[in-house]
Amino acid sequence: MRVGIIGSGEVAQALAGGFLKYGHEVTLGTRHPDKLSEWQTTHPKARVGSFADAAASAEVVVLSVKGSAASDALRQAGIGNLTGKVVIDTTNPIADAPPDHGVLAFFTSLEGSLMERLQREYGAARFVKAFNSVGADLMVNPQLKGGPPTMFICGNNDVAKQVVQGILDQFGWETADMGTAEAARAIEPLCILWCIPGFLRDEWSHAFRLLR
Ligand SMILES: NC(=O)c1ccc[n+]([C@@H]2O[C@H](COP(=O)([O-])OP(=O)(O)OC[C@H]3O[C@@H](n4cnc5c(N)ncnc54)[C@H](OP(=O)(O)O)[C@@H]3O)[C@@H](O)[C@H]2O)c1
Repeated sequence: MRVGIIGSGEVAQALAGGFLKYGHEVTLGTRHPDKLSEWQTTHPKARVGSFADAAASAEVVVLSVKGSAASDALRQAGIGNLTGKVVIDTTNPIADAPPDHGVLAFFTSLEGSLMERLQREYGAARFVKAFNSVGADLMVNPQLKGGPPTMFICGNNDVAKQVVQGILDQFGWETADMGTAEAARAIEPLCILWCIPGFLRDEWSHAFRLLR
């Protein structure tokens, strides 16, 4: 697959590494390509360009920017470059405030998620929430004592979710489909829960698993 990643931070780089590992073509999108020169040296098969470059050639788009910048970044990527495409939304609506006893603040409420906002604004794209509730270091083939963890996903398009499930299979995850975009109201706050042991005890090596 041709994968275009909108973003160049920890998540973008971790997922880019995973896609390259499995033979996909990767373009990393950033406003500042120069800062990726070292990364480009260690990942010669990847391309680096603008947000629009990343989205234009992609079959699957990955959105990995600061939550408050998500809408702007998609606008810069170009609405036409997103039409009909799967957009894997890794973002979290984290507010610009310090954690309170290890608990992050969000700029959304439980009545509406960031992904629903984005899906409304970019109606021709097929958003799937994924990879938001685990640290970047564990996104690709996590090795945990408890076995493969569960990635909670949601989105309005079943075919798009099947594409994302295929990627999650490659990356060593079990997938739990929680339904339509509204489920992002529950999946985005899993990030808050995931971060608590990190902020309180500097423990960051865990992931969620759904037991039946
Ligand atoms: N870090 C994690 O372990 C983790 C885990 C799960 C989910 N997440 C979520 O995944 C997303 C990415 O996280 P991250 O830690 O990799 O990176 P981040 O530091 O949250 O964001 C960095 C990216 O945001 C872009 N950005 C920042 N301000 C912008 C603006 N005003 N307009 C357009 N783009 C802007 C930057 O673009 P440039 O490249 O142009 O500078 C950069 O690519 C976040 O929403 C985060 O909550 C993070």
